[in-house]
Amino acid sequence: MTLETPTANSFSLPFGEQRNGPLYGKDILSVHQFSREDLTHIYTVAHEMRGMVARIGTFDLLKGKILANLFYEPSTRTSASFTAAMERLGGSVIPINNVQYSSVSKGESLPDTVRTLECYADVIVLRHPEVGSCALAAQYASKPVINAGDGIGEHPTQALLDLFTIFEELGTSDGLSVTMLGDLWNGRTVHSLARLLALFNVKLNYVSPDVLKMPDEIVAELNGKGISQQAFTELDPILPETDVLYVTRIQKERFESQEAYDAVKDLYVITPDTMKQAKEKMIVMHPLPRVGEISMEVDADPRAAYFRQMEYGLYTRMALLAMVLGKA
Ligand code: NCD
Repeated sequence: MTLETPTANSFSLPFGEQRNGPLYGKDILSVHQFSREDLTHIYTVAHEMRGMVARIGTFDLLKGKILANLFYEPSTRTSASFTAAMERLGGSVIPINNVQYSSVSKGESLPDTVRTLECYADVIVLRHPEVGSCALAAQYASKPVINAGDGIGEHPTQALLDLFTIFEELGTSDGLSVTMLGDLWNGRTVHSLARLLALFNVKLNYVSPDVLKMPDEIVAELNGKGISQQAFTELDPILPETDVLYVTRIQKERFESQEAYDAVKDLYVITPDTMKQAKEKMIVMHPLPRVGEISMEVDADPRAAYFRQMEYGLYTRMALLAMVLGKA
């Protein structure tokens, strides 16, 4: 007797050839490209992925497909979750995490590197230190390019998983007061998330020292969309009304000097005392890695959502890969 392996088609789910889906064959470069309707679609698939992983773990939706994971900056979560997403869908991965051992160290240009990888892969995930690098790569590649962080620019797949976390944890994003704290100048995750949240009826609060404030260009863009935004240098005044506290790391590697970093590095630390002032239903998020801005004692608080957030990242990236490759 042979045991039948369950496949995506064993379930009545929105999987299978979907060449007319909103993301099929598309690059994912910026959150600007998404409408609310696209998000509904992505999260329906991500939610199904969550159920599929719980029920059967791995299934063959992307069997035979190959992802090139090209990282010019350090990464743990983004790189590992794209790999896990591809493998859980039955596909495989070319990992290039140490560009110093690739032809990049011989001086190869980004356009040439992506045109090489697309000979072998069906989709390219790219992280690079320069703003606009993923858009440049996409100009040269004929296969889809997914931006996994371009310097201090954007991190669209992180914002998608962040919003998925908010939906799964709080049920909605409408009417929420979202407080972003830390390095809002260099933090690409908050640049993308603020823009994505602007599709909803939210109130955004920014807490940072003046030198690390949310860039004027983003504030102006969101003002133009009628989003209420307020800036603070302390968390206390805005904490009691906050529904989502999104904490970020001060991005040491993007400072010009150690002194400039030292001046701001320990300004905000979330502790169990902080949590006493917060709503009972507030969630604390963080794209991670953390380097001290949330004390480990907070981890046991049920409102600490940052570990669950990483898991939502797997489902979101599974959904994105399946959609980009025309299978969901
Ligand atoms: C973030 C990043 O790389 O922008 N991490 C991530 O992708 N989860 C945040 C950071 O490095 O601080």
